[in-house]
Amino acid sequence: MNNKVKIAVFPVAGLGTRFLPATKSMPKEMLTVVDRPLIQYAVDEAREAGIEHFVFVTGRNKGVIEDHFDRQFELETTLFERGKTKELKELQKDLPKPGQTSFTRQQEPLGLGHAVWCARDIVGDEPFALLLPDMLIKAEPGVLSQMMGAYNENGGNIIAVEEVDKKDVSSYGVVGRGAGLDEGFIINEMIEKPDPKDAPSNLIISGRYILQPRIFDLLSSHTKGAGGEIQITDAMQALMKEQQFTGVKFKGRTFDCGSKIGFLSANVAYALDREELSEEFRKELAILL
Ligand code: UTP
Repeated sequence: MNNKVKIAVFPVAGLGTRFLPATKSMPKEMLTVVDRPLIQYAVDEAREAGIEHFVFVTGRNKGVIEDHFDRQFELETTLFERGKTKELKELQKDLPKPGQTSFTRQQEPLGLGHAVWCARDIVGDEPFALLLPDMLIKAEPGVLSQMMGAYNENGGNIIAVEEVDKKDVSSYGVVGRGAGLDEGFIINEMIEKPDPKDAPSNLIISGRYILQPRIFDLLSSHTKGAGGEIQITDAMQALMKEQQFTGVKFKGRTFDCGSKIGFLSANVAYALDREELSEEFRKELAILL
């Protein structure tokens, strides 16, 4: 029987330089797609997959993320007094229950691997989910839910992957595909930002992982990789020598909201999907195009 995955880690300590000046004093993860911040979509996806504890690895200027997941008594009272019960219910629905959140700080943005390592004491000796909130994935059920099936069957470590044009693989972590179906296949190779001619496939790592706690030991060497950053892919490569990694080619559409095009496209896609906005927004888009 595999240990149930109950904890999710959300690294939110990056500088978000591609979104300056917006991210000068506001975290990238609080950028909104329609009317919800990116971090809320990631937390909703984790909750849907059965996650019970949410760990945020924050940095400077990220206090507002903590506030977002706290109660706002003044606002709630005002909404109540004005009879705005629908809005009040919406706010309350989004909140994790008391004691379900933890916050720790990555004092320096040394890379994603380092951010994950900062969560080691909170996660302890448990498997955990890792979600990158700037990779927004529109999927039903959510990608983490799709991965739980593969985890329940295979245990070990699970990585969500998707296909891209081979020429684009050099911006991502890429996996090699071994035996198995799209819902769960053996990963036999992993490489961060390869030259397209050296890439084992066009399957890229999409920002959703289920990892065993052994990864923390491997991250503790703080070895720098691509771009001079401590990379999670390097530690996963080392872990592959000891434990199984299963790939899940999920059903869904990814928007890389760390890039402007991805973020703008996400806003269009999610707005078109909202019943109360879709028709009018379609008309506005037609005028603009
Ligand atoms: P990115 O690779 O998109 O980096 O991080 P970034 O620094 O946020 O953005 P740019 O490239 O400067 O525009 C992917 C995720 O990992 C987190 C980020 O907050 C984001 O959620 N991260 C990255 C950290 O928490 N710490 C780091 O040192 C690096």
